[in-house]
Amino acid sequence: MLHPLPDDLLKLPHRREVPFARLTTLGVGGVCHWLFEPTTEAEASQFVRTCHREGLEFRVLGGGSNLVVLGDVTAPVLRLRLPFAVECHGTEMTAPASHGHIALAEAAAQAGLSGLEWASGIPGSLGGAIRMNAGAYGHEWVQVLIRYRFLTPEGELIEKAPEPGEFQYRKSWFGREHVVLSATASLVEGDPARIRAQVAEYRGRRGTSQPLSKRNAGCIFKNPPGASAGRLIDAAGLKGMRVGDAEVSVEHGNFLVNLGHARAEDFAELMAQVRDQVRATHGVELEPEVEIWR
Ligand code: FAD
Ligand code: EPU
Repeated sequence: MLHPLPDDLLKLPHRREVPFARLTTLGVGGVCHWLFEPTTEAEASQFVRTCHREGLEFRVLGGGSNLVVLGDVTAPVLRLRLPFAVECHGTEMTAPASHGHIALAEAAAQAGLSGLEWASGIPGSLGGAIRMNAGAYGHEWVQVLIRYRFLTPEGELIEKAPEPGEFQYRKSWFGREHVVLSATASLVEGDPARIRAQVAEYRGRRGTSQPLSKRNAGCIFKNPPGASAGRLIDAAGLKGMRVGDAEVSVEHGNFLVNLGHARAEDFAELMAQVRDQVRATHGVELEPEVEIWR
């Protein structure tokens, strides 16, 4: 049942009935009934304050590259569309949360700043990367993050430095209704040719180990302590297992790919089967790495 939204919310830029297949890299999910796309921080803040005032729950969407959406979402969804501006002060780089993550890593490389080479193959937005504490090849955001700005669920704007324990392996302290607005990384001056070579090396490794030509949401499960989920799934003989058009990638066991016409239910069922089989084979409980919206 769709409830009418208050007039002041409806004055903000929004779209109706957008399929999540178009909003996520996995390409499945139901319909996003209300997609709010503020183009300024003031509009984002008004959205959050109005939802809070009305007791309306909302969701925050970035590039949709770490999401499995299982059905329609009637709650308003916020996707920032802030101006595409990167600021450099010396070796500090600040960008709005809606900035493309790969484009940000490229901007750092262009500026001769080292410290984000590992990020050059991770899609989505900067906001999603901060929220997930995205990482690769022994690096993660918290190692370079020196400041971030966000809205509380009540709409208060806070700027702070990260504190110990706020960001861990693929998780952060943020709740569902915190909105990251921008983040600042502390980088170091580097030799542009070496930075480019490092980016190319990471991209090459990714290209040979991950199924980048098919729709996916990155790794589906977290690596259990001291182990690799991909190796466990592979050793259980699950590569190539299918439910409908959802498949355990034959290239990397921890990627589920959409072969074309998969449905959200197919991915939910395939995830459940993989967990069951890994538990039965190895006695290990896999925990989802992706965010699941029901
Ligand atoms: P979304 O998927 O849109 O959202 C993810 C979570 O972040 C949700 O909880 C959402 O509510 C929250 N969120 C999004 N924006 C904001 C915001 N502004 N404020 C507050 N919360 C927000 N991840 C890695 O860590 N390492 C990898 O190597 C990696 N490789 C990948 C490779 C491929 C091919 C793909 C498809 C994905 C990969 N991922 C990887 C997963 C994914 O790209 C990252 O988790 C990414 O940082 C998610 O960003 P997003 O903007 O797409 O977030
Ligand atoms: N392996 C297999 N079979 C497979 C997949 C992997 O045997 O099907 C083996 C590999 O040969 C390797 C080991 O498992 O010895 C680890 O594999 P890989 O190097 O591909 O790394 P990973 O642990 O599977 C992690 C992150 C990735 C990140 C890479 C590179 C997690 C869950 N995954 O993958 O992040 O890109 O390291 O740093 O932490 C993501 O978070 O979405 C993601 C893709």
